[in-house]
Amino acid sequence: MVFTLRWGIVATGGIAELFVKDLLYDPALRGVSDVAHLPVAVASRSVEKATAFIKSFIPEPIAANVKPYGTYADLYANPDVDCVYIATPASSHYENALEAIRAGKNVLCEKPFTVNAAQAKHLKFEAEKHNVFLMEAVWTRFFPLSKEFTHLIHEEKIIGDIHRIYSDFSVFFDPVKDVRMYSAATAGGALLDLGVYMNVWTLLTCYRHPDNNRAPPDIIKAVMFKSPISPDIDESTSVITVWKKPKIMCVGTVSMMTDSPADCVIRVQGSKGEVILPIHGSRPEKIIVRLKAGGMGERVYPFPIPGQGLFYEADAVARDIRDGKKFDENYPLEESVFAMELMDEVRAQNDLKFPSEIEVVEDY
Ligand SMILES: NC(=O)c1ccc[n+]([C@@H]2O[C@H](COP(=O)([O-])OP(=O)(O)OC[C@H]3O[C@@H](n4cnc5c(N)ncnc54)[C@H](OP(=O)(O)O)[C@@H]3O)[C@@H](O)[C@H]2O)c1
Repeated sequence: MVFTLRWGIVATGGIAELFVKDLLYDPALRGVSDVAHLPVAVASRSVEKATAFIKSFIPEPIAANVKPYGTYADLYANPDVDCVYIATPASSHYENALEAIRAGKNVLCEKPFTVNAAQAKHLKFEAEKHNVFLMEAVWTRFFPLSKEFTHLIHEEKIIGDIHRIYSDFSVFFDPVKDVRMYSAATAGGALLDLGVYMNVWTLLTCYRHPDNNRAPPDIIKAVMFKSPISPDIDESTSVITVWKKPKIMCVGTVSMMTDSPADCVIRVQGSKGEVILPIHGSRPEKIIVRLKAGGMGERVYPFPIPGQGLFYEADAVARDIRDGKKFDENYPLEESVFAMELMDEVRAQNDLKFPSEIEVVEDY
């Protein structure tokens, strides 16, 4: 029997549009037959925007049964919503997720999970207290490619002992003051927004290395360029992490001043060869394995993504909720908290602080 998860969409920006379109993408086209998705409510800070969003992006006859709301809280009160998808700017994730959890809703919250690790820990605590499902929407973790990447490097050990990983996620943004990426008020900046993808591959390679046992790195050294027009955000940040037990050095880098090179954004080097992912680190569609002499030469593993690819994480959430799980095993809350701790350390080393009102954490 197909389990259909009923979604409430919170906010009507760019990623909410892509997500709702992917929810409506026929699951059979990605070989899925056990779960399906149905948007049943859309909330915005204005009911007119919610209504326009439904009209623009959800076809009839489904649209006729999707309720528009002019406040996020009204959507959380709708008993027909099984899971809330939060697609507001990072500065609002903590407040929005907290309210949804306290209303008893399961939550999928866009990346970056929160502004700091303290907020992430508190959300985890509240989700456990209210017995609801909670996950950070790091969609890349749910691609079939990501599963194969992990299998190749850790189970098949195709490149032997891993020595080094280079992980880049850079996207050029016009430096315009007060737009989301260049605004500290909405927790913009390269590290928090783009760093999530730099971390996806570092965490899969190092944090999830069988010899590392999900321990933090032994050394973290980070440098950044702050923006001349918005000094409370970083335009480029590079992070070296050293993981002594598996003996891997990681060079991670993010930038809004330049794009990543198209041919290689992730390079994992081992004793027998290397694994390369071409652009983009958020949505790669092939794995390239190059082995040293005597190996198999170059092998390409294609993973074409139908639609945008946000449905893979939505499928995982649907299965988790169907099965009564409160977190996802592939990307558990501990790992979101750890990723936020890593970013806290990088910001601390570079004295980068967001406005105190968005860093706030309730006592609990
Ligand atoms: N997974 C991915 O591939 C991906 C891609 C892009 C972005 N993201 C993440 O998704 C989140 C949203 O990004 P986006 O690109 O969709 O942003 P966006 O286009 O600016 O949309 C954000 C929406 O949040 C609502 N909102 C609530 N408080 C707001 C405030 N103070 N300022 C501005 N908008 C506010 C607005 O909707 P209403 O007016 O309707 O309330 C707005 O349309 C970010 O955390 C971002 O990192 C993820």
